[in-house]
Amino acid sequence: MAARTISTHGVMEGGGSYNLHARIPAGGGNLALPYLEGAARSLAVRPGADPLFIADYGASQGKNSLAPMRAAIRCLRGRVGNERAVMVVHVDQHANDFNTLFAVLNNDSERYSVDDPNVFPFAVGRSFYENVFPPEQVDLGWCSYAAVWLRQIPALIPGHFVSIACTGDVRAAFDLQAADDWRLFLSLRARELRTGGRLVVVLPGLSDEGVTGFEPLFNSANEILGEMVDERVVGADERKRMVLGAYPRRRAQLLEPFAREGQFQSLSVECCELFELPDAVWTDYQLDGNLESLCSRQAAFFRAIFVPSLAASISDAGRRVAFADRMEQKLKRRLCERPVPFHSFVQTMVLGKQSPAFTPLARSSA
Ligand SMILES: C[S@@+](CC[C@H](N)C(=O)[O-])C[C@H]1O[C@@H](n2cnc3c(N)ncnc32)[C@H](O)[C@@H]1O
Repeated sequence: MAARTISTHGVMEGGGSYNLHARIPAGGGNLALPYLEGAARSLAVRPGADPLFIADYGASQGKNSLAPMRAAIRCLRGRVGNERAVMVVHVDQHANDFNTLFAVLNNDSERYSVDDPNVFPFAVGRSFYENVFPPEQVDLGWCSYAAVWLRQIPALIPGHFVSIACTGDVRAAFDLQAADDWRLFLSLRARELRTGGRLVVVLPGLSDEGVTGFEPLFNSANEILGEMVDERVVGADERKRMVLGAYPRRRAQLLEPFAREGQFQSLSVECCELFELPDAVWTDYQLDGNLESLCSRQAAFFRAIFVPSLAASISDAGRRVAFADRMEQKLKRRLCERPVPFHSFVQTMVLGKQSPAFTPLARSSA
């Protein structure tokens, strides 16, 4: 049960694959756009001409960042005009597919810099469980579908590969890791945010009943992993080490750091909302009846997001590709046999950084 730190866990499939298949995170991010726009309208803009600074934590290959960054810049432009420089810094792990990210930032027809010469995109390859920026640097932070990935995997999961399926000591280890990592993430972002800045966090969440909506997908994939061991496509030891470091949180877990003092590290919660996100691919299927397309897209989604983390337990690069191909094929077939939608849940949080002198605690003790 030793902790397993894999510097690349949670990295999406490269070669632009994530951008092609990440329709569910795109939908979750879209639901949160009004909150990002509200944050951009309400953050304290510094007087003067210094650039405004937007950080996009966990950007992956960039396609899903374009709409949020465009929306945030549009709101800021409404406040500061067109001349003020805006820096947008996309952060991800060093093993991320930055080539695709840069191609998107340069060539995509929806890139936010296309009609704004005073917007400057940058990228950083560093974990958001470290200091990414100097203190008091970030005016507006955005982190969508990324902080669900833990800093490290605290335990192996007997019989499954997702934290939502584990119980007992293993569940306790994940719960503890997730609580520590959330506090660490918030502490680091609090340091980087300017006073008066805002941080918007979007997460695939758990409903109040403890459901993610992805259970049928994970259970099918788990059955297939068992078959792949029987077929000797993966070894039993490799299978044991296949664990996703993703941990969807309940609303109460997200709010826990703020519970005692009404704020945490000068951050206070401006809103924390749970949304249902209908599966857009399923909606297409209901319109066109194309089962083949439904299952191909669902299997490609699983491959692009989760298979690289599972394949990390296979040391040979060629076998990792064969594993990914076989998993996708088998999953597609399984999903065709039992078609099911992945209607999921999205947590959206807006956090504001106050001057310590204005925190509720300081006010009450003054
Ligand atoms: C599901 S993608 C989300 C991409 C995009 N924000 C979106 O909404 O579609 C999750 C991203 O978070 C990144 N990530 C996970 N852990 C991270 C960490 N510790 N530091 C930086 N990025 C991380 C992954 O590498 C991956 O690119």
